[in-house]
Amino acid sequence: MKISILGGGGFLGRKIAERLAADGHLGGKPVTGLTLFDRAAPPKPDAAFPVHCLAGDLLDLPPQAIPIGTEVVFHLAAIVSAQAEEDYELGRRVNMRGTDMVIDACRRLVSAGDKPPRVVFTSSVASFTGSQNAVMPDDARQVPGNSYGAQKAAAELILADASRRGFLDVVTVRLPTVIVRPGRPNKAASSFFSAIAREPLLGLETTLPVPDAFGVWVCSPRRAVDWLLHAAALDAARLGLHRGITPPGIATTVAEILAALDQVKPGASALVRREADPAIAAIVGTWPPAFEATQGRALGFAEHEPIVDVIRAFVEDDLQATLRERGLGT
Ligand SMILES: NC(=O)c1ccc[n+]([C@@H]2O[C@H](COP(=O)([O-])OP(=O)(O)OC[C@H]3O[C@@H](n4cnc5c(N)ncnc54)[C@H](O)[C@@H]3O)[C@@H](O)[C@H]2O)c1
Repeated sequence: MKISILGGGGFLGRKIAERLAADGHLGGKPVTGLTLFDRAAPPKPDAAFPVHCLAGDLLDLPPQAIPIGTEVVFHLAAIVSAQAEEDYELGRRVNMRGTDMVIDACRRLVSAGDKPPRVVFTSSVASFTGSQNAVMPDDARQVPGNSYGAQKAAAELILADASRRGFLDVVTVRLPTVIVRPGRPNKAASSFFSAIAREPLLGLETTLPVPDAFGVWVCSPRRAVDWLLHAAALDAARLGLHRGITPPGIATTVAEILAALDQVKPGASALVRREADPAIAAIVGTWPPAFEATQGRALGFAEHEPIVDVIRAFVEDDLQATLRERGLGT
């Protein structure tokens, strides 16, 4: 099975590539080739199959990014929430027109005689609006409260239509906020949900822009990767025209994340300083903190581990690399 990851140099793209390299198979089929595409050539994981790392712009997608014979495309390339809100043109360009380019690339494969490739698309909790008391049912309407969420919802629709027309075969995973993100803070409005655990574990101070009682829908990188791989192998006949799935994340609060942090490293939460940020609060304040995720469970998307295990997973998987990357290691 040939696989491409667009956005293969990003946080989740790298993790999927590493998992595929370690497993050597997807949905019971051996991986025979992996192409990683991003603005800068992504790092090459050690794998028993050929891995091609390509640099380029999604808007000018080279045919080698999705070579003939590709069966699965992970479309992760995106401009994330706060950046898409700050730079409207860039967000629209990558999140919408970039997705159009992916559709055209898949159409070329089908014209050449390939089966419509499975496209796993990463949409977001940010494509919904809900109050802090909301528990969203599976059939909740997507009413985005920010440009990023609107661009994701629009991309979901055109990908679903391209599936109906037989150009590709999309499964969209509407990801929760993924914590704990390794490395440095990024331009997602949700960046602080990771920072309040990561920075104290690095021994650094950080700020909290919302109240402790703030509710948030999260998942770990491990579980996000499990879900995206599950989506890649899912029988789409079970979905019909409805291609967007909310997997079972964790409905938690900032206070619970900080308590879990203290369980893993006693006293660490003292490094979190309360500093209100109305711009960030305005974006994340529209994201619903809980979803029923009934369909996701029924379709076999793995249940989540408790929040304390999410913090432990960062310590096990990413703490050392983050210390090295930031020049904090011994
Ligand atoms: N991390 C989260 O909490 C989260 C939550 C919900 C949804 N998502 C979605 O999941 C996906 C992966 O998220 P992530 O956290 O790994 O993001 P990321 O920012 O780490 O990775 C996205 C990658 O896309 C690349 N990219 C951007 N513009 C490009 C272009 N024009 N051409 C080629 N590549 C381009 C970036 O260089 C980056 O490496 C994204 O689509 C994101 O919107 C993430």
